[in-house]
Amino acid sequence: MKLIKTKDNSFTFFNEEFQEHYHSISGALEEANKKFIEPLELKDGMTILDICFGLGYNTLAAIEKYKNLKIIALENDPKILEELQRIELKGKFEIIKKLTKEKYYKDENYEITLILGDAKETIKQVKDKVDIVFLDPFSPKKNPELWTKEFFSDIYSIMKKESKLATYSCAGQVRRNLKEVGFKIKDGPCVGRRAPSTIAIKK
Ligand SMILES: C[S@@+](CC[C@H](N)C(=O)[O-])C[C@H]1O[C@@H](n2cnc3c(N)ncnc32)[C@H](O)[C@@H]1O
Repeated sequence: MKLIKTKDNSFTFFNEEFQEHYHSISGALEEANKKFIEPLELKDGMTILDICFGLGYNTLAAIEKYKNLKIIALENDPKILEELQRIELKGKFEIIKKLTKEKYYKDENYEITLILGDAKETIKQVKDKVDIVFLDPFSPKKNPELWTKEFFSDIYSIMKKESKLATYSCAGQVRRNLKEVGFKIKDGPCVGRRAPSTIAIKK
């Protein structure tokens, strides 16, 4: 897979099958922080569902700043978990590398479980109620099965009341599907493009 340096000097890949990058080339780690971590107002002690773990940057950005986190991550492609071993990053990326090899990581601050398989199915194995959701599939055009009302409804059912989900897409159909399952929608920040991202709150 082709490794690409983004404008904040963090690396991403280009996926040939989906013909998309894993992150915005304006800055992969910046995207994790600005689109997911900051607008979701994480706190120590939260439980997080990271849908479409990929290179693990959203989980990484969370553990860099917060403690006592329980994270459940869903990903279906074992190749990307191997590829990310090629990346060198400062900070806690070693935790991500360990997690991707063993599918489970635990220390005094973090308990992280990585479930491999189609998120439409593996979400049914999540028994925790979560405070935060990172929803980061490829685009609705290329990865439509993870932007449906049915999938959003499964996510909604394991979120605590007033908990929040962030996603980079602001597509009309995505927001309509989120609203139809019960979410309240807000604009998230514009990062690397003019359109806002989306924050969805469980009412
Ligand atoms: C945009 S990338 C995610 C980037 C990632 N959040 C990160 O920080 O590196 C989308 C990811 O969704 C995964 N994916 C696509 N369809 C999936 C499915 N049905 N179930 C689980 N993961 C899926 C892809 O393998 C890819 O790793």
